[in-house]
Amino acid sequence: MSVSKNDVFESDAELLKRSPEELEAEGRKLDAQKAGARVGLTSDEIIINGGRPLKGRIEVRGAKNLATKAMVAALLGKTPSVLRNVPNISDVRVVAGLLALHGVLITRNEDQTEWRLDPSNVEVAHQADIDAHAGSSRIPILFCGPLLHRLGEAFIPDLGGCRIGDRPIDFHLDALRNFGAVIEKLPSGISLTAPNGLKGANIELPYPSVGATEQVLLTAVLAEGQTELRNAAIEPEIIDLICILQKMGAIITVEPNRVIFIEGVPELRGYDHRAIFDRNEAASWAAAALATKGDVFVGGVKQEEMMTFLNVFRKVGGDFDVHDDGIRFWHPGGALKPVTIETDVHPGFMTDWQQPLVVALTQAEGTSTIHETVYENRFGFTDALNKMGAEITVYKDGLNGDTRRVMRREFEQAAVITGPTPLTGADIEVPDLRGGFSHLIAALTAEGQSKVTNLGIISRGYENFIEKLRLLGADFVFES
Ligand code: EPU
Repeated sequence: MSVSKNDVFESDAELLKRSPEELEAEGRKLDAQKAGARVGLTSDEIIINGGRPLKGRIEVRGAKNLATKAMVAALLGKTPSVLRNVPNISDVRVVAGLLALHGVLITRNEDQTEWRLDPSNVEVAHQADIDAHAGSSRIPILFCGPLLHRLGEAFIPDLGGCRIGDRPIDFHLDALRNFGAVIEKLPSGISLTAPNGLKGANIELPYPSVGATEQVLLTAVLAEGQTELRNAAIEPEIIDLICILQKMGAIITVEPNRVIFIEGVPELRGYDHRAIFDRNEAASWAAAALATKGDVFVGGVKQEEMMTFLNVFRKVGGDFDVHDDGIRFWHPGGALKPVTIETDVHPGFMTDWQQPLVVALTQAEGTSTIHETVYENRFGFTDALNKMGAEITVYKDGLNGDTRRVMRREFEQAAVITGPTPLTGADIEVPDLRGGFSHLIAALTAEGQSKVTNLGIISRGYENFIEKLRLLGADFVFES
């Protein structure tokens, strides 16, 4: 194992004491120096002088939507786990804080990409501490099964996450009840116990929810007997989580047609795993290259997990080259073309890919339509693009008489984008993680100056994005 006691590790206690701002302070000071004179920005704001193509190479690290879950999985092992390729994002720090509160000893190597999680002394944490630490993440809900297995009880605070719809947890709670969990609603969250232990269950999800599938996996692996999960999500991050659990000693079979069988085992050991790359970050930088007429090599990206995105990227008029160590994305010149997209669960077009792509579609010649089928409220970010000159109409109840491939849900949203529309700089505020990154792309694409505020949200899921903007030649001012 590449982790040795000679490496520089930081203890969990130290980690808890440091705020995300402190952790990022070093990088931000550098930014301010390089940007020249201070102009009185807070560390949550950036001024971007747009209209310059992004060019260069950046690396993406492990997926936010795997790394955070892999960290929770470490709770299930009898021995320490090692997770590599961990992104330096605030969602990871929130999960680390919660694990530390539950007695997991966390140490990191010098460049902080390799984390060792020792769950030997897992203990009950105080509800008030959990509540104070859960921040805006949705990951705490995934602590249910592992904590019930380890401690026989769990407290989960009210969840945060991006404001992109109701984001209920009914699938999670129904699944947990099927395993034998008893759930009590408290004013500040939920309390769970398992008086008779957790037993394998037959579960059919109403929708292939990513989080609920992970909930079932993390609970079933140590439950007594067999679990059959139907209508499961099969996102690459879920398959990576299954690989981790298999390394730990779990027996999991992924069948065709979204069926997963899990044979419960009495105990699991720790894992050593390199997190799958972040598909959402990759697609975001690819869209930024296209919108700004740039040329960006995104290191660490693999083709297979990006196939659906790559097809759309090509249809819109972008070009790409697949290399062993990443994918180069560029705008080959000429007009971009409009597309019609329906967001969907894997292997469909991810809901997290539409926001960055919409910015590029404002530059396409003609009318594009995006049907958002995963979340009921994920076009809020388009208001800012319209302010900058885009022509985007959001249909909150979807489009009437429209034929669609993806099954209709009880809600429906569509955005119609008419282009090409030149964008001009404006003052805009980041509304949520993916919408926020699309605001950055819009500011980079627009002629003139934009001030983007509420940047902290972007640090939830994009590692060192300020540094990456610099590497790609963006013209901006950022101060710590
Ligand atoms: N849903 C329910 N009840 C539930 C759970 C989900 O109705 O108990 C609904 C949701 O409201 C939504 C749909 O099912 O309409 C899909 O939700 P899902 O559970 O799949 O999403 P999630 O697990 O909460 C993860 C990612 C999201 C990503 C979605 C879809 C994490 C931490 N989050 O969310 O990522 O958009 O899957 O792929 O893994 C992001 O990274 O910015 C982000 C929002």
